[in-house]
Amino acid sequence: MRRKNRIFWLFGRRKRCTIPLIVLIASILGMSWWIAEFSSKVLLPPPPPDQNLDHLRRNRSLKYYISKIQLLIEPSSSPCDGVEEVPIIVLVTSPPTRFEQRSAIRSTWAKHQPTYFVLGLDGPSVDEQLVDNYVEAKQHGDLVIFDFQEHYQNLTLKTALMLQWTLDRCPQAEFLFKTDDDVFVNPWTLKKVVRDNKDAQLLGYSINDTYLHRDAYSKWYIPRWLCPDDFVSGYLSGTGYFISVEYIKKLLTAATYVPLVNIEDIYFTYLVAKRYLRLTLSHDRRLSPKKPWFLFGCVYWHLATAHNISPEELASIWPKIEDIAKESYTRKEICKYYEFLSSDLFLY
Ligand SMILES: *[C@@H]1O[C@H](CO)[C@@H](O)[C@H](O)[C@H]1NC(C)=O
Ligand SMILES: *[C@@H]1O[C@H](CO)[C@@H](O)[C@H](O)[C@H]1NC(C)=O
Ligand SMILES: *[C@@H]1O[C@H](CO)[C@@H](O)[C@H](O)[C@H]1NC(C)=O
Repeated sequence: MRRKNRIFWLFGRRKRCTIPLIVLIASILGMSWWIAEFSSKVLLPPPPPDQNLDHLRRNRSLKYYISKIQLLIEPSSSPCDGVEEVPIIVLVTSPPTRFEQRSAIRSTWAKHQPTYFVLGLDGPSVDEQLVDNYVEAKQHGDLVIFDFQEHYQNLTLKTALMLQWTLDRCPQAEFLFKTDDDVFVNPWTLKKVVRDNKDAQLLGYSINDTYLHRDAYSKWYIPRWLCPDDFVSGYLSGTGYFISVEYIKKLLTAATYVPLVNIEDIYFTYLVAKRYLRLTLSHDRRLSPKKPWFLFGCVYWHLATAHNISPEELASIWPKIEDIAKESYTRKEICKYYEFLSSDLFLY
């Protein structure tokens, strides 16, 4: 009897309350749905970024991709024409839009090395971008542009194109040095490194006994379906490594048998060179993939490369390096006391 009364109280006696009550319940439900929705967005991680690796599910043959990619722009005269000895040719990977980085490199270390920038095409505004790059290429004569999509995941393709281009245009070079546009290069120490490692097949900063990145959020993510081995016994950091030109043909031939992997240095220096061809990876810590804590000329002097260097940092360190280089002809011991500051302990 009492219960009936209560229900009557809710829905019967005060009919006027029914509609507001439904509205209230609905809004409570709505609120809680919204809170759940909102908190799930805050608390749960975002879905993994689209890594654009699906094309590799279709075909993982390097040949398949390379054969379709055309060379669009290159220096009008072949860089090594009429030159008998080219100790080092430098190729820099650079996305089309990074004018500032290329300009900083041109006015600093590239003055001392034959240096070329290798570019792909940039997504939605290809035409406009290509016009700018065309002007740049005319002006500086140091761009090599290929007809393929510029993307971090496509760096392996780009490296293969760089190897092929070196073989076609500068076969007499002794070493190809492959590097990035955010790398500081010290041409004087770079030459010393080569002199100290004359017989190297591949030479760089050897990263040993590591594991592949299986985290889909990582920039260096390699899914297991691309490379089932977790462990890598050693590879050369892609920030800057030398390949003896003698071995480029071997590498490219071998690469037609080794299924493509998205990470360039793992693919070429580990899977193709070390594992498939059993080549030796030589280590020189001066080809550093890191950056010194201190922006001192003398610290950079002891390194052949440093990574993550902005155009501003490059511009500020360069005059100091040039001064040290001039002095070093008469004072061999220059910067001696700074050597320990360029050890791995003071790099990050
Ligand atoms: C991938 O491309 C290569 C070279 O064009 C071809 O020989 C091979 O059959 C292709 N593989 C697949 C799975 O389509
Ligand atoms: C890599 O380049 C090829 C050829 O242009 C293109 O089909 C593919 O989508 C590119 N990959 C990415 C991740 O952009
Ligand atoms: C990697 O191993 C080589 C010898 O195989 C060694 O010379 C080099 O110092 C090691 N690399 C690092 C970063 O310790």
